[in-house]
Amino acid sequence: MAPVVVARDLVKRYEDLTAVDRISFDINQGEIFGFLGPNGAGKSTAIRMIQCVSPVTSGKLEVLGMDVRERPREIKARLGVAPQDNNLDPDFNVIQNLTSYARYFGIPKAQAARRAEELLEFMQLSEKRDVMIENLSGGMKRRLIVARALINDPDLIILDEPTTGLDPQARHLIWERVRQLKREGRTIILTTHYMDEAEQLCDRLVIMERGKFLVEGEPKRLIADVVGDCVMEVIETDGDEAERYLRSLGQQVERSADRLYVYSKDCRTINQEFRRLHPEIYSVIRPATLEDVFLRLTGRRLKE
Ligand SMILES: Nc1ncnc2c1ncn2[C@@H]1O[C@H](COP(=O)(O)OP(=O)(O)OP(=O)(O)O)[C@@H](O)[C@H]1O
Ligand SMILES: [Mg+2]
Repeated sequence: MAPVVVARDLVKRYEDLTAVDRISFDINQGEIFGFLGPNGAGKSTAIRMIQCVSPVTSGKLEVLGMDVRERPREIKARLGVAPQDNNLDPDFNVIQNLTSYARYFGIPKAQAARRAEELLEFMQLSEKRDVMIENLSGGMKRRLIVARALINDPDLIILDEPTTGLDPQARHLIWERVRQLKREGRTIILTTHYMDEAEQLCDRLVIMERGKFLVEGEPKRLIADVVGDCVMEVIETDGDEAERYLRSLGQQVERSADRLYVYSKDCRTINQEFRRLHPEIYSVIRPATLEDVFLRLTGRRLKE
């Protein structure tokens, strides 16, 4: 099966800023593909080119087998997009936000009404059916934006930070729905700053920084390749004895405030020995996560 998105040397420039810098990737049919990266990395910019709302500066970009420069209208008709920013219509209530959006796709009125009710049910918003947007909570708005993205029964669904600001229940609801959409055979592009979410949902992902990809792959593979299977954490409140000792073993040690991270294939043995030598200092072994991959690759300092 042909990939749903094909990008080669894709570039987006805003005056003297290169927001997306020669990225190449394929997104396959039926997969959940994640774009991760610090604030300003270029995730939304990349996604907005796929959505055909931001013109490509250079490179090749095909979506659903069509060139974004040549057939943007046909592409848009088959996309469902939940943008990062809330752009619900404040003049309408919940159900009207869905039915009015359906008009853009030329969906007949009766069908749009039926579909809108189904989607409210799907996102557990039926009770809020007649509420004006300003009276929704932040999490309800997010859920409505995701519901709206599905109104045209899209083949490719783009979710730009769908769970930012949601409570745990709402996040889990969105995860469950995203998995359900995948089971239906749809392709999903996801951005998120929650590494546990990306680890659980994404079949493949990229981590980008300053417009470029740092890595690409399956979450488990990336964790194994970049970090290993475990991480040793040490809490060192005063002094740097532990840090000096661990570095003297030739280990890669990172410090973040009073916490040390040791990334090593031998971290279990190292921890045992460390516990024997320094029983007074707290240390623990835990499984490596995608968050470790992210922080190792992008560093622990703020990016802006
Ligand atoms: N319309 C625009 N005009 C000029 N610069 C822009 C525009 N949109 C985005 N940028 C810049 O492009 C860069 C990438 O922005 P983008 O929104 O793609 O980041 P992001 O990875 O989605 O970040 P976040 O995690 O904060 O959403 C940033 O430096 C941003 O300031
Ligand atoms: Mg963004």
